[in-house]
Amino acid sequence: MTTVLDPYEIRKDFPLLATGVIYLDNAASSQKPRQVIEALTRFYETKYANIHRGIHRLSREASEVYEKAHETVARFINARDWREVIFLRNTTEAINLVAYSFGLGTLAEGDEVIVTVMEHHSNLLPWAAIAKKRKARVKVVGLRGYTLDYGELELAVSEKTKVVAVTHASNVLGTIIDARRIARLAHSVGAVCLVDGAQSVPHMPVNVNELECDFLAFSGHKMLGPSGIGVLWGRKDLLEEMEPFLYGGDMVKEVRMKDGVVNASWNELPWKFEAGTPNVAGAVGLAEAVEYLSRVGMDNIRSYEESLTSYALRQLSEVDGVEVYGPKPEQRCGILPFNVKGLDPHTVAAILDQKGIAVRSGFHCAQPLHEHLGLYEGTVRASFYLYNLKEEVDTLVQALTEIASIAEKASSPVE
Ligand code: ALA
Repeated sequence: MTTVLDPYEIRKDFPLLATGVIYLDNAASSQKPRQVIEALTRFYETKYANIHRGIHRLSREASEVYEKAHETVARFINARDWREVIFLRNTTEAINLVAYSFGLGTLAEGDEVIVTVMEHHSNLLPWAAIAKKRKARVKVVGLRGYTLDYGELELAVSEKTKVVAVTHASNVLGTIIDARRIARLAHSVGAVCLVDGAQSVPHMPVNVNELECDFLAFSGHKMLGPSGIGVLWGRKDLLEEMEPFLYGGDMVKEVRMKDGVVNASWNELPWKFEAGTPNVAGAVGLAEAVEYLSRVGMDNIRSYEESLTSYALRQLSEVDGVEVYGPKPEQRCGILPFNVKGLDPHTVAAILDQKGIAVRSGFHCAQPLHEHLGLYEGTVRASFYLYNLKEEVDTLVQALTEIASIAEKASSPVE
């Protein structure tokens, strides 16, 4: 296995891993290094105040730290301007913002939004809701093997297409999508392209200029940051045109009331989209997480996870009674869905849990994909991160060998 980073050293930074759990549920959420935990504590103990609301020292300092966090995240994804980075709760909220602010304002009857069958419910349901309001249509592009059917996508795109919303990496199959190809296709008909980066930004270098997309959404909690902080990056000209999503404090420049009529003008970016007191501490933690990932190097993280996933795929494919799904390691991020013959996914996950191994089971918020693949009970999903070890994969494979063999014996006819 390639050792472009030292997972044994990295693990020393993660207090929760010292409890002995084999944590293979990173696609759901990652563990946090002490640097992030300490940054949060330090902020609350020495700098905490609300932002943009006071002229006192603490508020000024908190505002500065909060704005710097936008700059740190902007650098991480190579955004040209930190004002294009909007802090929200998570990927879900970021996609809803685009669906409501851009979609509701742009879609007309007969227009089309294109998604793929691989989408997480978060990149499907907001579009379905907005399309319904506007009498527009959501078109769903299918798979070719375990990857996107680019040919079908090319046929689906037309002058009716206004938005193409795609996952960058499937949270079930791990399939990595050629987002630039899709963005170019969208632009060729004047549509915008939104990329759901929830499973890509934490695990590989992501550069919004290279992707050529118009919006990128991702979550802090899957990339070593605290929960409750997520990001929407968007092209400045689009963000400036869009109506706010939430209305209230800080998103407004001026509010006037005359004869019972309220008139308001919106604050500049990104505040126009950050109504109310934001998750200031979350932003501090996310910036620290981004610094941590950058020190390790996103290329190194990608290489390491690719070799760990490749190793896991080889080992698991040799276990009788275990069926693994998804593309080749170089086409996927560190996500491994599988099933054990004769057992439903939740039972397998519960047995693994008894053995100290944390995985997710079920539909992983992507039920249409499972149905498309004929996996009507769902899958068990192991998902890796920079701190996972080859030895943990071995323990998983050993446990699954035992589980599959017991399931096989239980289903054999008694002689
Ligand atoms: N979206 C997260 C997952 O796939 C929660 O598990």
